[in-house]
Amino acid sequence: MKKNQNQGKQKNSIPKNRRKIRKGSAETCRKQLWKPGNMLYPVPAVMVTAVDKSGRDNIITVAWTGTVCTNPPMVYISVRPERYSYPMIKETGEFVINLTTRELTYATDYCGVRSGRDTDKFDVLKLTRQNASKIAAPLIGESPVNIECRVTQCIELGSHHMFLAEVAAVHVSEKYMDEKGKFHLEEAQPVVYSHGAYCGLDQILGTFGYSVRKK
Ligand SMILES: Cc1cc2nc3c(=O)[nH]c(=O)nc-3n(C[C@H](O)[C@H](O)[C@H](O)COP(=O)(O)O)c2cc1C
Repeated sequence: MKKNQNQGKQKNSIPKNRRKIRKGSAETCRKQLWKPGNMLYPVPAVMVTAVDKSGRDNIITVAWTGTVCTNPPMVYISVRPERYSYPMIKETGEFVINLTTRELTYATDYCGVRSGRDTDKFDVLKLTRQNASKIAAPLIGESPVNIECRVTQCIELGSHHMFLAEVAAVHVSEKYMDEKGKFHLEEAQPVVYSHGAYCGLDQILGTFGYSVRKK
């Protein structure tokens, strides 16, 4: 999501396909009716770290995750009970959400198709363990944002159990901070998961509130 080099300079120098999307530019689509299923995309694909009481840690890729409350800051992850990571999170009530980037895409996929039962994913992927500040689960050093979480509720929904959690601490990489201390997540090249594909976010189409902002 690198900013166009010309942004902020002459308006007409921004290529047409990178100009802000304006009112009335979308067309109506003809639809097919599908049976109920998961079609809410894109979603984040994050690497969740956890550790059991004996100190054995693990990384699991999770796409069923999101923010559910601003104050107190709360998130959720939904995990199948058969995952190796599940009892770690259930027993300790702790996990870390590690955001993923273009450079971490391979690791993200790998942690989603290999189990910690047979593999030390940190070692195989040469990822760095960093200490969390409030919980025992490790952070992934290469991730630009790590969110330490404490489970408040486990809701057994069906195939997945939803761990609702309060954010205990957030770590952000200094690499993406400007001289004023503003954090530029887009420079870390975050990745989303969309209907089976990992996708980058290569264009900024507008910023929060631009549809009503005075020009
Ligand atoms: C992109 C992606 C997203 C995934 N999302 C979830 C998820 O939200 N919940 C879940 O239980 N498993 C999810 N999985 C599957 C687990 O990550 C996978 O089964 C993993 O190998 C489990 O690791 P573990 O056995 O070491 O815990 C996902 C896999 C991929 C590739």
